[in-house]
Amino acid sequence: MTIASVDQTIKLISTGAAAGSTCSPELTAGPWELDAGTPGYGPGSSMGDVIPTGSPRQGALPETYRTASPEELAERIRAAKATLGDRVVILGHFYQREEVLQHADFVGDSFQLAQATKSRPDAEAIVFCGVHFMAETADLLSTPAQAVILPNLAAGCSMADMADIDSVTDCWEQLEELYGTAPDADGRVPVIPVTYMNSSAALKAFCGANGGIVCTSSNAETVLEWAFERGQRVLFFPDQHLGRNTAKAMGVPLDRMPMWNPRKPLGGNTAAELGAAQVVLWHGFCSVHKRFTVDQVDTARREHPGVRVIVHPECPMAVVDAADEYGSTDFIKKAIEAAPAGSTFAIGTEINLVQRLAAQHPEHTIFCLDPVICPCSTMYRIHAGYLAWVLEGLVGTVEEPPVVLNRIVVPDDVAGPARTALERMLAALPPAPARQGA
Ligand code: 13P
Ligand code: SF4
Repeated sequence: MTIASVDQTIKLISTGAAAGSTCSPELTAGPWELDAGTPGYGPGSSMGDVIPTGSPRQGALPETYRTASPEELAERIRAAKATLGDRVVILGHFYQREEVLQHADFVGDSFQLAQATKSRPDAEAIVFCGVHFMAETADLLSTPAQAVILPNLAAGCSMADMADIDSVTDCWEQLEELYGTAPDADGRVPVIPVTYMNSSAALKAFCGANGGIVCTSSNAETVLEWAFERGQRVLFFPDQHLGRNTAKAMGVPLDRMPMWNPRKPLGGNTAAELGAAQVVLWHGFCSVHKRFTVDQVDTARREHPGVRVIVHPECPMAVVDAADEYGSTDFIKKAIEAAPAGSTFAIGTEINLVQRLAAQHPEHTIFCLDPVICPCSTMYRIHAGYLAWVLEGLVGTVEEPPVVLNRIVVPDDVAGPARTALERMLAALPPAPARQGA
C-alpha cells in the first residue's frame, strides 16, 4: 500500500495545492539545511526548546544525497539493502517519515524496537531510524560486534535532553540528605529512581547503579509497581506527564507528586512536601504532546459525535482526563485495529503515525486532534537522504573501502549499569512482538 506521507502533505499545503496549516515553513526544506551548526532542534514541535550545549551535531551530507529526488533515494536504499542482505537490519519508530519507514525491517514503539534489537544478533549493522536515546539502547542490547548506526547524529529528543546526569545527581544528593538511606521495616529504601526510556544512557546507568529501572510508555504502570515494592517513593524523570498520568491512574494523590525544578533548591519544594511525596516528578515534557489541549478534545466531540479520543500518556493530565483512553503508540495502533468498521478516532500523538493509521484503515475515520501539521522536530531529522548515505557507506558505493558512518557507542563504564536498569525493565514485562515491516 502506498501511503500519502506527511512530507507530501506538507509540500501540498506549502504550494497551496491542499488546505491546512503547518507550524513552520522550514518543514519543506531538507534537514541538511540545519547541518551547518544551526542552533536548535529544527522545524517542528520542539523548535522552541533549548538545545543543550554539546549535543551531537551532524556533519554536512554529501551533495549527491541532498539533490537526489525521493524516487532516486528510494531506489538507492533498496539497492544498498539488497546488496547488504542479512548483514544489515533497519529498525524504524512509528514517528518516522513514510519515505524512511517503508525501508524498515521492523517498525514499532520504543519498547518493541528495543526487543527487535535482540532478535537479529547475526546482523553486522543495526540502522536505527529513530532518535539518539533509542540508538543508545540498541547499542546496549546488541552484541559488541554489532554496529548501531543513527543516520543523522542530530536526531536527539528534546524531552530526553531536559534531564542531564549532573542535574539528576544533584537532585539525588539533596533527596538522600533529606530522606537518609536506611530502609524501612519492610525493607523498602527511601527512594527508587525510574527513568523513562527517553533519556540518555548516562541516566539509565544512574538508575542501574542506584537500585532503579527504566520504563517505556507501554509498561510504566508495571515498572512503578516494581519500584513501589522496593522503595517508599519514586524519583521519576524526565517526563512529568507520563509520571503524573501513570501514578494518578494507580491512585497516587496529586498533592503527593511534587515537581522537581532542577534550577531551584530542593527542586522548588519544601522539605515537608518532599517528605510526603510518593512520586517526585522531574520538570520535563514532550513538545509534540504538549500541543494537545482540552479545547481540541471538546471540538472533536462537538464535530464528531461518538468519536473515540485516544491520546499518548506524554500529553498533559487535563488532556488525558478529557480523552476516552490513553496509551503508548502501540496501544493506539492496536485499539484502532480492534475497533468495528465505521469507528471515528481523534488521536493525540505524532502526525506521521496518525496519518499512516488513517491511510491503513480506510474503514474508519481517523484524524489528529491538533489541526496544525507539526511533526516531531528530531524524528524529522532522519531523512531518506541520510539513510541512503549510511547504507551506501556500508556497501562502499561512494567511497572505498566501505565505512561505518554515525556509529553510536555507549562507553563501557556507562553500558554496564545502564544494561542492568534495562534488563530489570525487560524482566518486569514479557516481550511484545514488533511488526514485520515492508
Ligand atoms: P513510545 O514509547 O510510545 O514509542 O513513544 C516514544 C516517544 O518518543 C513518544 O514521544
Ligand atoms: Fe522526544 Fe517527544 Fe519527539 Fe518522542 S515525540 S522523540 S518524546 S520530542
